[in-house]
Amino acid sequence: MRIILLGPPGAGKGTQAANIVEKYAIPHISTGDIFRKNIKEGTELGKKAKEYMDQGLLVPDELTCGLVADRISQDDCKNGFMLDGFPRNIAQAEQLDKYLSEAGTKLDKIVNIEVDKSILVGRAVGRRICKSCGATFHVEFNPTKVEGICDKCGAELHQRADDNEETVSKRIQVYLDETKPLVGYYNKQGIVADINGDQAIEKVFADIVDALGE
Ligand code: AP5
Ligand code: MG
Repeated sequence: MRIILLGPPGAGKGTQAANIVEKYAIPHISTGDIFRKNIKEGTELGKKAKEYMDQGLLVPDELTCGLVADRISQDDCKNGFMLDGFPRNIAQAEQLDKYLSEAGTKLDKIVNIEVDKSILVGRAVGRRICKSCGATFHVEFNPTKVEGICDKCGAELHQRADDNEETVSKRIQVYLDETKPLVGYYNKQGIVADINGDQAIEKVFADIVDALGE
């Protein structure tokens, strides 16, 4: 199964991705996570990506499309993959379609998680992520048993550099201007499943499974 998770910052893409990859046994490919790993490791790609991410802007396509094409050509993606945070504009979507058609495959479903703009900032600003295993929590909506400590592995939690109110607002605007038009783009292919993301995490997941099939 070849899936794209679409939705604004804080919609719950990463949260649902963890459940989806477990159920469907496909790799989770998050361009945001790949960039953050490169920033942590101090690579050239990380240095360039950070300039844009800190401002809430999209990293240029020439730094992004090639790395996704490389990743989905790897062996573990033969039977499918789930892209989280890619594509993010029409040009990226066109490049992905071109790559997949040359490889003789196509996308199966776009999971479009919809959440009203008014609750997105609170979701992102209250997010906490495990420094070790990457599990995602929220100080209010999905708290850990012990404050600041990961329920899954016991490591410390941290906050993403771009999860402050100003940068989140910019990211939401960039989503509306550049990424949301992808819903129309994929609707023309008839593969979009709209999911209400303003429900309990478990209910959102149940709706996604309904859309994807068992
Ligand atoms: P990226 O890492 O992709 O971030 P994003 O799209 O802004 O999305 P988030 O990760 O913030 O939100 P999410 O939907 O995953 O929400 P989550 O599940 O964590 O991109 C970051 C940056 O990298 C971009 O700004 C850009 O600069 C760059 N970049 C990445 N890809 C790129 C590309 N293709 N091209 C160019 N640039 C690119 O949930 C959020 C919080 O809400 C959590 O605390 C969670 O616990 C809570 N929550 C989740 N679901 C629920 C629920 N149902 N009810 C209550 N709380 C919930
Ligand atoms: Mg995410």
